[in-house]
This record gives sequence, structure tokens and C-alpha cells, in this order.
Amino acid sequence: MTNSTLIINIKTVYGLHSKPFLFKKGTAMSVVDTLNNAYILVEDNVIHSFGPMSEVPERSDTVIDASGCLVLPAWCDSHSHIVYAASRENEYVQRLKGMTYEQISKSGGGILNSAEKLHHTAEEQLIISAASRLDEVISTGTGAIEIKSGYGLSTEDEIKMLRVVRHLKSESPATIKASFLGAHAVPLRYKNNRKEYIKLIINNMIPKVAGEGLADYCDVFCDKGFFTPDETDTILKAAARYGLKAKIHANELANSGGVQVGVENNAISVDHLECIGDEEIEVLKNSNTIPTVLPSCSFFLNIPYAPARRMIDSGLGVAIATDFNPGSSPSGNIPLLMAMACNNMRLTPNETFNGVTINGACALELSESHGSISQGKIANLIITKKIPSLDYFIYSFGSDHIQSVMLNGKIISKKDF
Ligand code: NIG
Ligand code: FE
Repeated sequence: MTNSTLIINIKTVYGLHSKPFLFKKGTAMSVVDTLNNAYILVEDNVIHSFGPMSEVPERSDTVIDASGCLVLPAWCDSHSHIVYAASRENEYVQRLKGMTYEQISKSGGGILNSAEKLHHTAEEQLIISAASRLDEVISTGTGAIEIKSGYGLSTEDEIKMLRVVRHLKSESPATIKASFLGAHAVPLRYKNNRKEYIKLIINNMIPKVAGEGLADYCDVFCDKGFFTPDETDTILKAAARYGLKAKIHANELANSGGVQVGVENNAISVDHLECIGDEEIEVLKNSNTIPTVLPSCSFFLNIPYAPARRMIDSGLGVAIATDFNPGSSPSGNIPLLMAMACNNMRLTPNETFNGVTINGACALELSESHGSISQGKIANLIITKKIPSLDYFIYSFGSDHIQSVMLNGKIISKKDF
């Protein structure tokens, strides 16, 4: 028996695709296909069909009247660190008083501080706090998300984090991909022997993580003060031998060769890119690696934004993700992120929309099933309150314009309006 839901009288549907695998590059990033006065028919967990109200099907089990409302595909957030033990607002205040992110990291704060706290936190507690963050981002429209480890920094604790992600995968209505990020920072006990830590990652962590099927990707924080391009290369090659594809942090703090090493290792994406120049843009143009920008990290650390405008103007496509984590982006709110991408990166609402939907889905390798409103894709939809347009949705930043979120064909989050 199929279960059907018919959404009728939709003011405008955004993000329709007839071609399911579309990655949007360059000028195509400003194209968003729309349909006014439309219906969408959902059967079980998939989009069965859509069209103009003049062709609306006769019946279905449930009818949702979306008069005056927009329907959008749920967001695809391709970079997050939502499994963590504690917030770090003390470091935020230290930064406001003049310390830099790197100074805080060097003094044992930052990622090492999060690792220390995670070590002393039970897996069950991590599940509770991460599940609550996940529910929160679902309520702001996220339907698919990548979640990294990286606050473990020992075999046991990295695996503990990835087991939390596995639990979320099985329990949450959101679609989740997991990345192993043992190379997030060198723990203090290996401070004078970083080679040993890299050996531990390669000989112990990667085989165990891959052996238990705990990760889809391998990440490395390839940046000044963290891991060098050579170290990154060694780790990514070891991960590839175990079937883990690369998806890395690159060029956040310095132009340190991360983009090149990511592309050489066929990374699915290179993320951050605040410190890139023309050379890196050229390297990306000659690759299949997806440049992913993280505007809320720049906003929160008060560092330059990745040159997304220049990247798109040069013909590249970008994915836009939250980087939700306790240190550099304690927010997973994509509507707010879209305002930052428009206002501070000078992207248009349409470019930003494609960055957090279809291009985000590509960066999660989920574009066959997510990221647009297409026949046969998973029914992950956002129904807005009564608002005029996508432009308005982003322009009126800070207001909550989402009425309900449907994941896998079921309404998950609903607000009164
Ligand atoms: O993506 N840059 C590296 N990792 C995270 C920050 C982690 C932290 O500060 O806890 C990021 O910004
Ligand atoms: Fe990150």
C-alpha cells in the first residue's frame, strides 16, 4: 500500500530539475528552474510528480494546501562537525579580546580542547547532544548532512565519534555521510613526535575505521600549523587503499598547498578556501574536485571570505556548507548562511540556493537522490510560510520563514504560523 501526500496551490516551486545529475558551474549557478501555481505529489518517500495546478491529480491520502507558500528542496550540508562534547564560548570571548584562532590552538585550546572534553564524555551523551543539533538543523531545512570525527585524536575516541555518527545515520530522518578526520590536529602527547601520530592514523585508525565501515570519506586539516601537504598526501593515499575517498580542509589559514594535494588525490571536495589565488582556481578548473566554501566560518572567525564570486565568474561551481562546529562556526542554520553568502561573498540568491542544494548534494555524492525537486528523488522538501520569493527568503535575514520540513515523504518539523 502506498502512502501519498499531495501539496497543492504552491505559489512557486524552486529547484526543479529534469536532469538528475546536474552540477551547476559558472553562469549555470544563477539558473534556478521554477514553476508557479503548482502541485507536488509525494508517494511513500519519493517525489512522484509535479506540475501546474491545472493538471493536479484527483486524489491522495493527505492534502497540504500551500497557498501563498514556496516549496524548496531541503538543504544538503556537505561539511559539519556536529558531534562534540562542549561549546567553546570562552574562546570566542578570548578572540574578541584580541587572541587569534591559531594562538588559541597553540596554547592547547581549539580542537585539542574539544578532544579533551570528548575523551571524558560518554558515547550516549554524545548521541543525545548531536541528535539535538541534528533536530535543530532539520527544523531550519537541512535534509542531508556530512558529519566528521576529528575531536577524538586517538583510535578509541575517533571510533567513538564515528559510532555516534552511525547511530545518527540509523535513527535520524536526515541522510548522513560520515568522514574520518583523525588528522584534525596533532595531539599534545605527540607534539614532539608527529610522525608517530601519522603512523597511528595510517596503520591503526584507517584500517579499523574502514574495517568497521564507519566512514564514507577521509578528511585531513591540511593547513599551516596542522598537517602539511606531504603528510596529507600520505594519509589520503593510505585511506584510498582502504576505499575511503578524500574530502579535505584546505587553505583556511594560509595558501598552504591544500587545494593541489586534494586535487592530486581526486578529492570529492576541498573545503574552506579562504586563502586561495588564481593558481588554485586554475587547478580546480582542471579537476572534478568540488570547491566548497564555508561563509559562517569567515563570519565567526572574522577572517576573509573565500573568493566565491571570483570562482563562479571564472567558470567554477561551488558548494556552500555550514562547517557547524564549536570553534569556528557554532551554527548550522542554512537560511542564515545564505544571507552571509549573498551579502559577504556577493553571490546572488539563485547562486546561493544552488550552492546549498544541488551542488551540496554533489559534494555529498547524493545528487542522484537529493538536492532538487525531480521525479523519483527522495521527497525532502521545505514548505515556507507565506512569502513572495526566494529573493525575499534570503533578504529578510534572521526571520524564520520555514513552515514545515518534509523528509522521506513525512512532515518532520512543523511550526504554527
Ligand atoms: O572546519 N578548520 C578545521 N576544523 C574546523 C574547526 C574545528 C574547531 O575549531 O573545533 C573548521 O573550521
Ligand atoms: Fe570543518
